[in-house]
Amino acid sequence: MKKSIAVLRGDGIGKEVTKGAIEVLKAVAVQYNHEFTFQHALIGGAALDAEGTPLPAETLEVCKKSDAVLLGAVGGPKWDVNPPHLRPEKGLLQIRKELNLYANVRPVTCYNSLLDSSPLKKEIIENVDFVIVRELTGGLYFGKPSGRKIDNGEEAVVDTLSYKRSEMKRIIEKAFEMARSRRKKITSVDKANVLESSRMWREVAEEVAKDNSDIMLEHMLVDNAAMQLIRNPRQFDVIVTENMFGDILSDEASMLTGSLGMLPSASLSTDGPSLYEPIHGSAPDIAGKNLANPIATILSAAMLLRLSFGLEEEATAVERAVEQVLDAGYRTADVASVQKRAVTTGEMVERIKEAL
Ligand code: NAI
Ligand code: MG
Repeated sequence: MKKSIAVLRGDGIGKEVTKGAIEVLKAVAVQYNHEFTFQHALIGGAALDAEGTPLPAETLEVCKKSDAVLLGAVGGPKWDVNPPHLRPEKGLLQIRKELNLYANVRPVTCYNSLLDSSPLKKEIIENVDFVIVRELTGGLYFGKPSGRKIDNGEEAVVDTLSYKRSEMKRIIEKAFEMARSRRKKITSVDKANVLESSRMWREVAEEVAKDNSDIMLEHMLVDNAAMQLIRNPRQFDVIVTENMFGDILSDEASMLTGSLGMLPSASLSTDGPSLYEPIHGSAPDIAGKNLANPIATILSAAMLLRLSFGLEEEATAVERAVEQVLDAGYRTADVASVQKRAVTTGEMVERIKEAL
Protein backbone atom coordinates (compact mmCIF):
# COMPACT_ATOMS: atom_id res chain seq x y z
CA MET A 1 0.00 0.00 0.00
CA LYS A 2 1.27 3.48 -0.94
CA LYS A 3 0.38 6.30 1.46
CA SER A 4 1.57 9.79 2.31
CA ILE A 5 1.64 11.11 5.86
CA ALA A 6 1.95 14.79 6.76
CA VAL A 7 4.05 15.23 9.89
CA LEU A 8 3.60 18.33 12.04
CA ARG A 9 6.22 17.96 14.72
CA GLY A 10 5.39 21.21 16.49
CA ASP A 11 7.35 22.28 19.54
CA GLY A 12 9.19 20.88 22.56
CA ILE A 13 8.95 17.10 22.89
CA GLY A 14 6.66 17.09 19.83
CA LYS A 15 9.84 16.82 17.76
CA GLU A 16 11.24 13.87 19.71
CA VAL A 17 8.05 11.82 19.96
CA THR A 18 7.09 12.19 16.29
CA LYS A 19 10.60 11.11 15.30
CA GLY A 20 10.03 7.90 17.28
CA ALA A 21 6.62 7.29 15.72
CA ILE A 22 8.01 7.78 12.20
CA GLU A 23 10.70 5.19 12.91
CA VAL A 24 8.04 2.72 14.00
CA LEU A 25 5.90 3.46 10.92
CA LYS A 26 8.95 2.91 8.71
CA ALA A 27 9.59 -0.42 10.40
CA VAL A 28 5.94 -1.38 9.77
CA ALA A 29 6.31 -0.39 6.10
CA VAL A 30 9.35 -2.64 5.65
CA GLN A 31 7.82 -5.57 7.48
CA TYR A 32 4.46 -5.49 5.71
CA ASN A 33 5.63 -4.27 2.34
CA HIS A 34 4.04 -0.81 2.28
CA GLU A 35 5.38 2.47 1.01
CA PHE A 36 4.85 5.37 3.41
CA THR A 37 6.17 8.83 2.58
CA PHE A 38 6.53 11.57 5.18
CA GLN A 39 6.05 15.25 4.42
CA HIS A 40 7.10 17.63 7.18
CA ALA A 41 5.40 21.00 7.71
CA LEU A 42 5.38 23.69 10.37
CA ILE A 43 2.77 24.34 13.05
CA GLY A 44 2.63 26.15 16.40
CA GLY A 45 5.60 28.01 17.80
CA ALA A 46 7.96 26.68 15.14
CA ALA A 47 5.66 28.12 12.46
CA LEU A 48 5.35 31.44 14.33
CA ASP A 49 9.13 31.78 14.43
CA ALA A 50 9.59 30.92 10.76
CA GLU A 51 6.46 32.39 9.13
CA GLY A 52 4.82 34.66 11.69
CA THR A 53 1.63 32.56 11.82
CA PRO A 54 0.80 29.39 13.84
CA LEU A 55 -0.71 27.65 10.79
CA PRO A 56 0.89 28.67 7.47
CA ALA A 57 -1.19 28.13 4.30
CA GLU A 58 1.51 25.80 3.01
CA THR A 59 1.08 23.52 6.04
CA LEU A 60 -2.64 23.26 5.37
CA GLU A 61 -1.90 22.41 1.72
CA VAL A 62 0.53 19.66 2.72
CA CYS A 63 -2.07 18.21 5.12
CA LYS A 64 -4.93 18.33 2.60
CA LYS A 65 -2.82 16.53 -0.01
CA SER A 66 -1.80 13.71 2.32
CA ASP A 67 -3.66 10.58 3.42
CA ALA A 68 -3.28 11.28 7.15
CA VAL A 69 -1.68 13.77 9.52
CA LEU A 70 0.57 12.96 12.47
CA LEU A 71 1.03 15.76 15.00
CA GLY A 72 3.40 16.12 17.95
CA ALA A 73 2.45 18.98 20.27
CA VAL A 74 2.57 22.75 20.19
CA GLY A 75 3.35 25.53 22.62
CA GLY A 76 5.96 26.65 25.10
CA PRO A 77 6.88 29.51 27.44
CA LYS A 78 8.57 31.41 24.62
CA TRP A 79 5.19 32.20 23.02
CA ASP A 80 3.08 32.53 26.19
CA VAL A 81 3.27 36.32 26.02
CA ASN A 82 1.84 36.40 22.46
CA PRO A 83 -1.68 37.78 21.83
CA PRO A 84 -4.39 35.07 21.31
CA HIS A 85 -4.26 35.05 17.50
CA LEU A 86 -0.47 34.58 17.56
CA ARG A 87 -0.39 31.71 20.02
CA PRO A 88 0.81 28.23 19.00
CA GLU A 89 -2.48 26.63 20.21
CA LYS A 90 -4.39 28.78 17.70
CA GLY A 91 -2.76 26.65 15.00
CA LEU A 92 -4.35 23.54 16.49
CA LEU A 93 -7.83 25.04 16.68
CA GLN A 94 -7.54 26.25 13.08
CA ILE A 95 -6.40 22.92 11.70
CA ARG A 96 -9.29 21.09 13.46
CA LYS A 97 -11.71 23.46 11.78
CA GLU A 98 -10.00 23.50 8.36
CA LEU A 99 -9.82 19.70 8.13
CA ASN A 100 -13.40 19.18 9.48
CA LEU A 101 -12.20 16.99 12.33
CA TYR A 102 -15.63 16.16 13.74
CA ALA A 103 -14.84 13.10 15.86
CA ASN A 104 -12.27 12.97 18.60
CA VAL A 105 -11.47 9.39 19.54
CA ARG A 106 -9.58 8.63 22.75
CA PRO A 107 -8.91 5.06 23.79
CA VAL A 108 -8.36 4.50 27.50
CA THR A 109 -6.37 1.36 28.15
CA CYS A 110 -4.90 0.36 31.48
CA TYR A 111 -1.89 -1.86 30.84
CA ASN A 112 -1.43 -4.66 33.35
CA SER A 113 2.20 -3.84 33.86
CA LEU A 114 1.42 -0.19 34.66
CA LEU A 115 -1.43 -0.63 37.13
CA ASP A 116 0.66 0.90 39.89
CA SER A 117 0.98 4.26 38.11
CA SER A 118 -2.74 5.07 38.43
CA PRO A 119 -4.12 7.07 41.34
CA LEU A 120 -6.96 4.50 41.51
CA LYS A 121 -6.96 1.06 43.08
CA LYS A 122 -5.70 -1.81 40.99
CA GLU A 123 -8.97 -3.78 41.42
CA ILE A 124 -10.87 -0.93 39.78
CA ILE A 125 -8.70 -0.28 36.74
CA GLU A 126 -7.52 -3.80 35.95
CA ASN A 127 -8.46 -4.69 32.33
CA VAL A 128 -10.06 -1.31 31.67
CA ASP A 129 -10.29 -0.86 27.91
CA PHE A 130 -12.75 1.59 26.40
CA VAL A 131 -12.93 4.39 23.85
CA ILE A 132 -14.47 7.83 24.17
CA VAL A 133 -15.88 9.28 20.96
CA ARG A 134 -16.37 13.03 21.41
CA GLU A 135 -18.11 15.34 18.94
CA LEU A 136 -15.54 18.04 18.17
CA THR A 137 -16.97 20.71 15.86
CA GLY A 138 -20.41 21.56 17.27
CA GLY A 139 -22.28 22.21 20.49
CA LEU A 140 -21.63 24.84 23.10
CA TYR A 141 -18.12 25.69 21.89
CA PHE A 142 -19.33 26.89 18.48
CA GLY A 143 -23.00 27.89 18.96
CA LYS A 144 -24.19 31.40 18.18
CA PRO A 145 -25.16 33.71 19.81
CA SER A 146 -22.36 33.74 22.32
CA GLY A 147 -21.41 36.83 24.27
CA ARG A 148 -22.18 39.49 26.85
CA LYS A 149 -25.21 41.73 26.79
CA ILE A 150 -27.18 44.08 28.97
CA ASP A 151 -30.49 42.67 30.19
CA ASN A 152 -32.76 45.14 32.05
CA GLY A 153 -29.77 47.25 33.00
CA GLU A 154 -27.77 44.29 34.33
CA GLU A 155 -24.83 42.57 32.65
CA ALA A 156 -25.83 39.14 31.29
CA VAL A 157 -24.20 36.45 29.18
CA VAL A 158 -25.27 33.76 26.72
CA ASP A 159 -23.68 30.67 25.14
CA THR A 160 -25.63 28.48 22.75
CA LEU A 161 -25.69 24.69 22.54
CA SER A 162 -26.67 23.98 18.98
CA TYR A 163 -26.57 20.87 16.78
CA LYS A 164 -28.01 19.75 13.51
CA ARG A 165 -29.49 16.25 13.35
CA SER A 166 -26.93 15.31 10.69
CA GLU A 167 -24.07 16.32 12.98
CA MET A 168 -25.41 14.06 15.71
CA LYS A 169 -26.05 11.22 13.30
CA ARG A 170 -22.54 11.11 11.81
CA ILE A 171 -20.75 10.95 15.16
CA ILE A 172 -23.14 8.38 16.61
CA GLU A 173 -22.78 6.25 13.48
CA LYS A 174 -19.00 6.45 13.82
CA ALA A 175 -19.29 5.21 17.41
CA PHE A 176 -21.44 2.25 16.31
CA GLU A 177 -18.89 1.41 13.64
CA MET A 178 -16.12 1.41 16.25
CA ALA A 179 -18.14 -0.71 18.66
CA ARG A 180 -18.59 -3.36 15.97
CA SER A 181 -14.89 -4.28 16.06
CA ARG A 182 -14.85 -4.17 19.87
CA ARG A 183 -17.20 -5.56 22.53
CA LYS A 184 -20.32 -4.24 20.75
CA LYS A 185 -21.61 -1.99 23.49
CA ILE A 186 -22.30 1.74 23.28
CA THR A 187 -22.97 4.10 26.13
CA SER A 188 -24.51 7.30 24.81
CA VAL A 189 -24.01 10.07 27.35
CA ASP A 190 -26.38 13.03 27.58
CA LYS A 191 -28.44 15.16 29.96
CA ALA A 192 -31.83 14.25 28.54
CA ASN A 193 -33.64 14.91 31.82
CA VAL A 194 -32.90 18.63 31.37
CA LEU A 195 -31.67 19.58 27.88
CA GLU A 196 -33.70 19.50 24.66
CA SER A 197 -30.47 19.00 22.69
CA SER A 198 -29.90 15.83 24.72
CA ARG A 199 -33.43 14.57 24.07
CA MET A 200 -32.79 14.90 20.34
CA TRP A 201 -29.37 13.23 20.77
CA ARG A 202 -31.11 10.28 22.44
CA GLU A 203 -33.67 10.07 19.62
CA VAL A 204 -30.91 10.02 17.00
CA ALA A 205 -28.99 7.36 18.94
CA GLU A 206 -32.13 5.19 19.02
CA GLU A 207 -32.59 5.64 15.27
CA VAL A 208 -29.00 4.66 14.52
CA ALA A 209 -29.37 1.67 16.86
CA LYS A 210 -32.30 0.36 14.77
CA ASP A 211 -29.97 0.00 11.79
CA ASN A 212 -27.26 -1.62 13.93
CA SER A 213 -29.10 -4.22 15.94
CA ASP A 214 -25.92 -6.23 16.60
CA ILE A 215 -24.71 -3.46 18.91
CA MET A 216 -26.13 -2.88 22.39
CA LEU A 217 -27.03 0.73 23.12
CA GLU A 218 -27.49 2.17 26.60
CA HIS A 219 -28.11 5.78 27.65
CA MET A 220 -26.46 7.37 30.64
CA LEU A 221 -26.85 10.82 32.13
CA VAL A 222 -23.58 12.72 32.14
CA ASP A 223 -23.42 13.25 35.88
CA ASN A 224 -23.88 9.54 36.46
CA ALA A 225 -21.26 8.80 33.76
CA ALA A 226 -18.73 10.97 35.60
CA MET A 227 -19.37 8.88 38.69
CA GLN A 228 -19.38 5.50 36.92
CA LEU A 229 -16.00 6.21 35.26
CA ILE A 230 -14.43 6.11 38.70
CA ARG A 231 -16.72 3.56 40.34
CA ASN A 232 -16.66 0.87 37.67
CA PRO A 233 -14.79 1.86 34.48
CA ARG A 234 -14.74 -1.74 33.20
CA GLN A 235 -18.43 -1.50 32.29
CA PHE A 236 -17.62 0.74 29.30
CA ASP A 237 -16.73 -0.24 25.74
CA VAL A 238 -17.53 2.78 23.54
CA ILE A 239 -18.78 6.06 25.03
CA VAL A 240 -20.25 8.59 22.60
CA THR A 241 -21.16 12.12 23.58
CA GLU A 242 -21.39 15.75 22.51
CA ASN A 243 -18.52 18.24 22.58
CA MET A 244 -18.45 19.67 26.11
CA PHE A 245 -19.47 16.49 27.94
CA GLY A 246 -16.77 14.67 25.95
CA ASP A 247 -14.15 17.28 26.76
CA ILE A 248 -14.69 16.85 30.47
CA LEU A 249 -15.22 13.07 30.56
CA SER A 250 -12.21 12.32 28.35
CA ASP A 251 -9.87 14.22 30.64
CA GLU A 252 -11.37 12.47 33.63
CA ALA A 253 -11.00 9.09 31.94
CA SER A 254 -7.40 9.71 30.90
CA MET A 255 -6.41 9.88 34.55
CA LEU A 256 -7.53 6.29 35.12
CA THR A 257 -4.23 5.24 33.58
CA GLY A 258 -2.31 7.85 35.50
CA SER A 259 0.10 8.73 32.74
CA LEU A 260 -0.17 11.40 30.10
CA GLY A 261 2.70 9.94 28.10
CA MET A 262 0.75 6.78 27.25
CA LEU A 263 -2.47 8.10 25.72
CA PRO A 264 -3.09 8.47 21.98
CA SER A 265 -5.92 10.19 20.13
CA ALA A 266 -7.45 10.45 16.69
CA SER A 267 -9.47 13.32 15.27
CA LEU A 268 -11.43 12.01 12.33
CA SER A 269 -12.41 14.12 9.35
CA THR A 270 -15.76 14.16 7.59
CA ASP A 271 -14.17 14.16 4.15
CA GLY A 272 -10.38 14.57 4.11
CA PRO A 273 -7.34 13.28 5.99
CA SER A 274 -7.72 12.60 9.72
CA LEU A 275 -5.28 13.76 12.36
CA TYR A 276 -3.50 11.71 15.04
CA GLU A 277 -1.73 13.09 18.10
CA PRO A 278 -0.75 12.22 21.66
CA ILE A 279 -3.01 13.87 24.24
CA HIS A 280 -0.09 15.48 26.07
CA GLY A 281 1.47 18.89 25.34
CA SER A 282 4.99 19.96 24.43
CA ALA A 283 6.39 19.37 27.95
CA PRO A 284 8.92 22.23 27.94
CA ASP A 285 10.35 20.97 31.25
CA ILE A 286 11.83 17.87 29.62
CA ALA A 287 12.13 18.97 25.97
CA GLY A 288 15.36 18.16 24.14
CA LYS A 289 16.56 15.80 26.88
CA ASN A 290 15.65 12.45 25.33
CA LEU A 291 13.39 11.76 28.32
CA ALA A 292 9.90 11.97 26.78
CA ASN A 293 7.69 8.91 26.62
CA PRO A 294 7.11 8.27 22.88
CA ILE A 295 4.38 5.66 23.46
CA ALA A 296 1.38 8.04 23.20
CA THR A 297 2.57 9.12 19.75
CA ILE A 298 3.46 5.58 18.66
CA LEU A 299 -0.03 4.42 19.70
CA SER A 300 -1.46 7.38 17.78
CA ALA A 301 0.43 6.08 14.74
CA ALA A 302 -1.18 2.68 15.33
CA MET A 303 -4.60 4.36 15.29
CA LEU A 304 -3.60 6.06 12.04
CA LEU A 305 -2.80 2.68 10.49
CA ARG A 306 -6.13 1.25 11.63
CA LEU A 307 -8.55 4.13 11.10
CA SER A 308 -7.10 5.95 8.08
CA PHE A 309 -5.42 3.10 6.18
CA GLY A 310 -7.55 0.14 7.31
CA LEU A 311 -4.39 -1.74 8.32
CA GLU A 312 -5.80 -3.65 11.30
CA GLU A 313 -3.08 -6.28 11.48
CA GLU A 314 -0.29 -3.70 11.37
CA ALA A 315 -2.01 -1.52 14.00
CA THR A 316 -2.45 -4.48 16.33
CA ALA A 317 1.19 -5.45 15.82
CA VAL A 318 2.33 -2.00 16.97
CA GLU A 319 0.03 -2.14 20.02
CA ARG A 320 1.28 -5.63 20.91
CA ALA A 321 4.89 -4.49 20.57
CA VAL A 322 4.24 -1.65 23.03
CA GLU A 323 2.59 -4.02 25.48
CA GLN A 324 5.43 -6.52 25.18
CA VAL A 325 8.06 -3.88 25.88
CA LEU A 326 6.14 -2.67 28.93
CA ASP A 327 5.70 -6.25 30.14
CA ALA A 328 9.45 -6.73 29.79
CA GLY A 329 9.85 -3.89 32.28
CA TYR A 330 11.06 -1.02 30.10
CA ARG A 331 9.82 2.39 31.24
CA THR A 332 10.55 6.01 30.41
CA ALA A 333 11.02 8.28 33.43
CA ASP A 334 7.37 9.43 33.61
CA VAL A 335 6.14 5.90 34.44
CA ALA A 336 9.26 4.36 35.94
CA SER A 337 8.99 3.30 39.56
CA VAL A 338 11.91 3.50 41.96
CA GLN A 339 12.85 -0.13 41.39
CA LYS A 340 13.04 0.18 37.62
CA ARG A 341 15.75 1.90 35.64
CA ALA A 342 14.27 4.45 33.22
CA VAL A 343 15.12 4.25 29.52
CA THR A 344 15.50 7.21 27.15
CA THR A 345 13.07 8.14 24.37
CA GLY A 346 15.45 6.68 21.80
CA GLU A 347 15.92 3.42 23.66
CA MET A 348 12.16 2.96 24.11
CA VAL A 349 11.66 3.41 20.35
CA GLU A 350 14.40 0.85 19.63
CA ARG A 351 12.83 -1.71 21.99
CA ILE A 352 9.41 -1.24 20.36
CA LYS A 353 10.89 -1.68 16.88
CA GLU A 354 12.64 -4.84 18.03
CA ALA A 355 9.44 -6.24 19.52
CA LEU A 356 7.66 -5.48 16.27
P1 NAI B 1 2.17 18.91 29.06
O1 NAI B 1 1.30 17.79 28.65
O2 NAI B 1 3.09 19.44 28.07
O3 NAI B 1 3.02 18.48 30.35
C1 NAI B 1 2.45 18.17 31.62
C2 NAI B 1 3.46 17.33 32.44
O4 NAI B 1 3.50 16.00 31.90
C3 NAI B 1 4.89 17.85 32.38
O5 NAI B 1 5.52 17.65 33.60
C4 NAI B 1 5.53 17.00 31.30
O6 NAI B 1 6.92 16.84 31.47
C5 NAI B 1 4.79 15.67 31.45
N1 NAI B 1 4.67 14.98 30.15
C6 NAI B 1 3.81 15.28 29.15
N2 NAI B 1 3.99 14.46 28.11
C7 NAI B 1 4.98 13.63 28.46
C8 NAI B 1 5.63 12.54 27.80
N3 NAI B 1 5.30 12.15 26.55
N4 NAI B 1 6.62 11.90 28.45
C9 NAI B 1 6.97 12.25 29.70
N5 NAI B 1 6.40 13.26 30.38
C10 NAI B 1 5.41 13.95 29.76
O7 NAI B 1 1.20 20.08 29.58
P2 NAI B 1 1.57 21.56 30.07
O8 NAI B 1 2.85 21.55 30.81
O9 NAI B 1 0.36 22.05 30.72
O10 NAI B 1 1.76 22.42 28.74
C11 NAI B 1 3.02 22.66 28.12
C12 NAI B 1 2.77 23.33 26.77
O11 NAI B 1 2.09 22.43 25.90
C13 NAI B 1 1.88 24.57 26.87
O12 NAI B 1 2.38 25.54 25.98
C14 NAI B 1 0.53 24.08 26.44
O13 NAI B 1 -0.26 25.09 25.90
C15 NAI B 1 0.90 23.06 25.41
N6 NAI B 1 -0.12 22.00 25.19
C16 NAI B 1 -0.28 21.56 23.91
C17 NAI B 1 -1.15 20.55 23.62
C18 NAI B 1 -1.21 20.06 22.22
O14 NAI B 1 -0.36 20.38 21.42
N7 NAI B 1 -2.20 19.26 21.88
C19 NAI B 1 -1.98 19.92 24.67
C20 NAI B 1 -1.68 20.41 26.00
C21 NAI B 1 -0.79 21.43 26.23
MG1 MG C 1 -10.00 19.52 27.42
